[in-house]
Amino acid sequence: MTAQLIDGNALSKQLRGEVAQRAAALTAKGLKPGLAVVLVGDNPASQVYVRNKVKACEDVGFHSVLEKYDATLSEAELLARVESLNNDPSIHGILVQLPLPKHIDDHKVIEAISPLKDVDGFHVASAGALMVGEVGFKACTPYGCMKMLESIGMKDLRGKHAVVIGRSNIVGKPMAMMLLAANATVTITHSGTADLGAMTRQADIVVAAVGKRNVLTADMVKPGAVVIDVGMNRDDEGKLCGDVDFAGLKEVASHITPVPGGVGPMTITMLLVNTMEAAERTFA
Ligand code: GUN
Repeated sequence: MTAQLIDGNALSKQLRGEVAQRAAALTAKGLKPGLAVVLVGDNPASQVYVRNKVKACEDVGFHSVLEKYDATLSEAELLARVESLNNDPSIHGILVQLPLPKHIDDHKVIEAISPLKDVDGFHVASAGALMVGEVGFKACTPYGCMKMLESIGMKDLRGKHAVVIGRSNIVGKPMAMMLLAANATVTITHSGTADLGAMTRQADIVVAAVGKRNVLTADMVKPGAVVIDVGMNRDDEGKLCGDVDFAGLKEVASHITPVPGGVGPMTITMLLVNTMEAAERTFA
C-alpha cells in the first residue's frame, strides 16, 4: 500500500481563502479583524514564526501588530502590555510567542490574556472549555490536525480508536479532547507507556506529538491506519523531519501527513480561523 498524503499546504490555502472572504465581509461592515503578536527577546526560531504569523494576517486582510521587546523586558511590563491589548478594541486576538525569557513566568502571562482574545487556546479557561464542551478557542495545532482528518472524510470518529503519542498541554492533551469530542475512543500514550507499539497497533488513527524522530515505525501500526505527524525535527543531514518514520509508514498507512507541508502550515491557519472567530464574536 502507498499512503495518500494529507497536504497541509493545499488545505491551508483553501481554509485561508475562506477566512479572507469572512474578513472582507466583516471589514465591509466596519470591523477589521486584528491580531497582536508579542515577541520578547531574539530567539531566531521565534523571530521566523512571528514573521510568518504577521505575513499570514496580511495575506487574509487582517490588521496585525507586531510588538517586539528586548529580552530585558520585565514581567510586570509585559503584563501591562497584555492588559493594554486586552482593552484595545482593534485587537481581537493576542498571541505572546513562547518561549519567554527565563525571568518571565509563561503561565502568568498566558493567564493574563483575556479568554475572549486567547486565539492560541492556551489559557486555562480555553482548556477547560474544551474539556467540558463549551465555547472557547481551541489550541491551533491539534485543531489543525482535526481539520486534516475532516479533509479525508473523518469528521465523526465514532467506532474509531485514536492513539495520541505525547501529553503536552499545547498538543497531546487538547488533541485527545478534540478526538474524544468527535466520538473517537482515545488512548493517550507518553514516555511512561510500557509498550507503545502494543497501543499504536490497535489504532485507526495515530497522532505523534513527541518532538523526537522515529517514535513510530512501520511495524507499530496496522495496515490502513491514518498517521498524523506533529513533529518538527532535524535529521542527521539537517533536513526537516517529523516524529515518524515516513518512508516506512507510507507503505502501511492509508493516509499520512508529510513533514514539511503537513501539520506545520495548519497551525498558523487555525490561528487565523480563531482570530476571525474572535472578531465575529465581538460583532455579533
Ligand atoms: N511557540 C511555538 N509555537 C507556538 C505557538 O503556537 N504559540 C505561541 N504563543 N508560541 C509558540
